[in-house]
Amino acid sequence: MALKILSAVSEIAPWIKTGGLGDVAGSLPAALRRRKQDVLVLVPAYPALRQACPEAQTVADIPALAPELPACRLLSAEAGGLPLLLIDCPELYDRPGNPYLDASGNNQPDNDRRFGLLSRIAALLGQADSPLGWQPDVVHLHDWQSALAAAWLHVGGGAASVLTIHNIAFPGNFDRSAMWGLGLPDSLWRFDGVEYHGHFSFLKAGLQFATRLTTVSPTYAREIHDETFGYGFAPLLRHRSAQLSGILNGIDTDVWNPRTDPALAQTYDARRLTLKRENKAALQAQLGLEVDDKLPLFGVVSRLTEQKGLDLLLTLGDGVATHLPAQIALLGAGEKWLEAGFRELASRHPGRIACVFGFSEELAHRIEAGADIFVMPSRFEPCGLNQMYSLRYGTPPVVRHTGGLADTVVDCNERTLADGSASGFVFAEPTAHELWLALERAAQTWRYNTLWRRLQQNGMRRDVSWERAADAYLTLYESAVGERRRERGG
Ligand code: ADP
Ligand code: GLC
Repeated sequence: MALKILSAVSEIAPWIKTGGLGDVAGSLPAALRRRKQDVLVLVPAYPALRQACPEAQTVADIPALAPELPACRLLSAEAGGLPLLLIDCPELYDRPGNPYLDASGNNQPDNDRRFGLLSRIAALLGQADSPLGWQPDVVHLHDWQSALAAAWLHVGGGAASVLTIHNIAFPGNFDRSAMWGLGLPDSLWRFDGVEYHGHFSFLKAGLQFATRLTTVSPTYAREIHDETFGYGFAPLLRHRSAQLSGILNGIDTDVWNPRTDPALAQTYDARRLTLKRENKAALQAQLGLEVDDKLPLFGVVSRLTEQKGLDLLLTLGDGVATHLPAQIALLGAGEKWLEAGFRELASRHPGRIACVFGFSEELAHRIEAGADIFVMPSRFEPCGLNQMYSLRYGTPPVVRHTGGLADTVVDCNERTLADGSASGFVFAEPTAHELWLALERAAQTWRYNTLWRRLQQNGMRRDVSWERAADAYLTLYESAVGERRRERGG
């Protein structure tokens, strides 16, 4: 029988996305629906979603549930074949831009209320008297923004909950006083409740109370048991280890398909790889780089943050342009000092290094196809989607051995070339020196056409679809539902 699954999430591609969470929020439910499951996605009615769903119908009026949670309406809509439930609360969500930040890049001042409401509604729908008349068997929560729902489901009973950790570095911390405004009982303020180093933490609530915990790769699931990767949550995760597993994300293989991608200058596939070159020339021309097929072109599409390790590439930029020599095409947005550094680097090496700051879905696709080598030197990477896009686009990635990067990219060496698994270049420590050696290795290997072709084809053959992960989530949901039933004594 089909499971009833409610996925509660703060962003969803293609309508509103700041990173991989949005991609996953859009494509996992679609994969579950292909398995005939009854899935509904709960998401705030941001302006972009209101626009995408002009036909949305009101299905429930929700009164103010706590002093700081305004009354709202739930709208039912369908977009891109997905059934959505939008939380219509203009006071909290009718704002332009990014779901988390204001126009100057600071956190919205009322994110506790904005994502408190998302969490509260997710829990309300998970209860037997759900205002929809449809009660999910399992509520799937994603990151701190919806994690607090697990606390209400714990207190009030109801559906099983699964919390997926996409990035443990964001705890969703607020003042203790915010608890009252959201209507949470003060009795939850304890070390085995929502208290986290003196803060009220949404993520802690989820890690403590969700029936099952997952993260987005097996390696990251292991890494967060340790202090360095666990961001203060390692002891709790060790305690809940039996309920924590890692399920590697998939990617949307329709959106990311070099054979059909409308953003590309020239489509191609594993058997027609020579056509890929036209994308390189088009990208070089578009970004003002020298149009030269003799120089390897490194591509980057990334949030510009400490996590992504791009400061290491910045340190090496002059050497890349002059000594390797190679080109860099970077698309990114994030911390101001990194943007400034890359802007200066590009101005020192016109024709060799081009950087575009901002968010562009189209350019992201053109870089995946036009670059020869993709670069992801992350300090930590729960899963990472771009390395999977690059495998699929025949653009072997250079990655650090961490999280999902370690689980998806196989280092190129004699053994892995012989057994046909080699798909990129992997380095161990997050240092500029190790990154340099990996970039050099990649650039040298690129010059050997036959070898390079094998590397590209190995990567392109890898199954990066959602099918395997969707099955793993289904098994997990079933075990969470079973446990919840046992807890209730049913
Ligand atoms: P994270 O979620 O940590 O940022 P992922 O690799 O999981 O990392 O996912 C990042 C997603 O966001 C990918 O789909 C990537 O293409 C996209 N992305 C990141 N930065 C940009 C940008 N500046 N413009 C367009 N897409 C971007
Ligand atoms: C987070 C992680 C990234 C992961 C994405 C989707 O943003 O940083 O590694 O791929 O979530 O799960």
